[in-house]
Amino acid sequence: MTAKRAMLKIMHIVGARPNFPKVAPIMSEMARRPEQFQQVLVHTGQHYDYNMSQVFFEQLEIPTPDEFLNVGSGSHAAQTAAVMTAFEPVLAKHRPDWVMVVGDVNSTLACALVCSKLGVRIAHVEAGLRSGDRTMPEEINRLLTDQISDLLFTPSKDGNANLLREGVESQKIHCVGNVMIDTLVKLLPKAQQRPILSRLGLEPREHVLVTLHRPSNVDDAGALREILQAMAEISRRRSVVFPVHPRTRKQIVGLAMALPNTTLRLIEPLGYLDFLALMNTAALVITDSGGVQEETTYLGIPCLTVRPNTERPITLTSGTNRLVASRCARIVEAAAESLRGSKSSPPRPEYWDGQTAGRIADVMMGL
Ligand code: UD1
Ligand code: UDP
Repeated sequence: MTAKRAMLKIMHIVGARPNFPKVAPIMSEMARRPEQFQQVLVHTGQHYDYNMSQVFFEQLEIPTPDEFLNVGSGSHAAQTAAVMTAFEPVLAKHRPDWVMVVGDVNSTLACALVCSKLGVRIAHVEAGLRSGDRTMPEEINRLLTDQISDLLFTPSKDGNANLLREGVESQKIHCVGNVMIDTLVKLLPKAQQRPILSRLGLEPREHVLVTLHRPSNVDDAGALREILQAMAEISRRRSVVFPVHPRTRKQIVGLAMALPNTTLRLIEPLGYLDFLALMNTAALVITDSGGVQEETTYLGIPCLTVRPNTERPITLTSGTNRLVASRCARIVEAAAESLRGSKSSPPRPEYWDGQTAGRIADVMMGL
């Protein structure tokens, strides 16, 4: 007779926009197994505008957080320290068996550090991604979080190879696929019902969708000018829709640059469903977002990533992604090439199939 497994108490951490589509399917999967998992949700408050946070809880049906740390914005040190200070008593109060952190934002590393010092086991979802570029704050967050995690869930095999090279023990590493794609698969039918195209006066496969927020692009006035000039140029031939991240909005205001306001539409950040609807019908997506590189790969929508490197090389080799320098002429040229090219749909990466959360829950219960 096999002994009945004890229930696991799992604490999930969210803080910033890309965390929400990663945590939603894991919480939903674990909620379907109440005899196996007890769950606690902590929101650090790193992102706090309605359309950077609450709208995702509503559209992705994420439960209301049990604990809200309300840390808000700040420098890297101030924000990381604020999360750590606020999180420590919360961790001590709930005493979970595991803390699950996702992605590579400051909240991810801050909570992982607190767990490592209090001896609470850490599971990192989206482990092993590496851009090789240590000027990116996210690369530091990835490297350090992975070093102190007890269980590492990678989205693709390149992640396993990176972790093994850094000395992580192979039995801690599990390639489970891309959990963000679970959310996409589940919500695509709902997104297709949204009237966002008609609301913006767009036709399917005609518009270019833009989203940018990397400090290397938007906090550098020279790079931001080049990118905005490229957007203005592309908008002479195509409608360009640009939901503007709050970091980017601040910097655009600071530039005081004259932009055409007819076919280049700078709008507020969109909720998940409207953004997905626009992405799924775009002729081209121009971005520096990590998640958007993956979502366009799944959808087979051409994507230009305005960066010199990516921690998601599988989107270049098995996807629709291309890297482009943050120079106006290079972006305009690459966009014209993409828009002329025929739409090809390369095979999707292995395990990007909407079933990743199930594999994560199975691994946790099999430990
Ligand atoms: C953060 C993550 C980045 C992720 C991005 C997703 C880190 C180091 N960076 O970058 O990896 O790709 O989120 O969107 O964790 N702000 C608001 N309202 C909000 C949130 C932010 O106005 O709800 C403004 C504030 O002026 C803030 C700035 O945006 O200072 C930057 O926010 P922050 O969370 O520090 O970094 P992001 O650029 O959002
Ligand atoms: N996203 C959104 N609305 C927007 C821009 C992005 O819902 O206006 C979604 C996008 O589809 C993806 C996630 O936000 O699911 C990615 O987050 P972000 O680009 O902020 O962070 P990154 O992935 O670069 O860390």
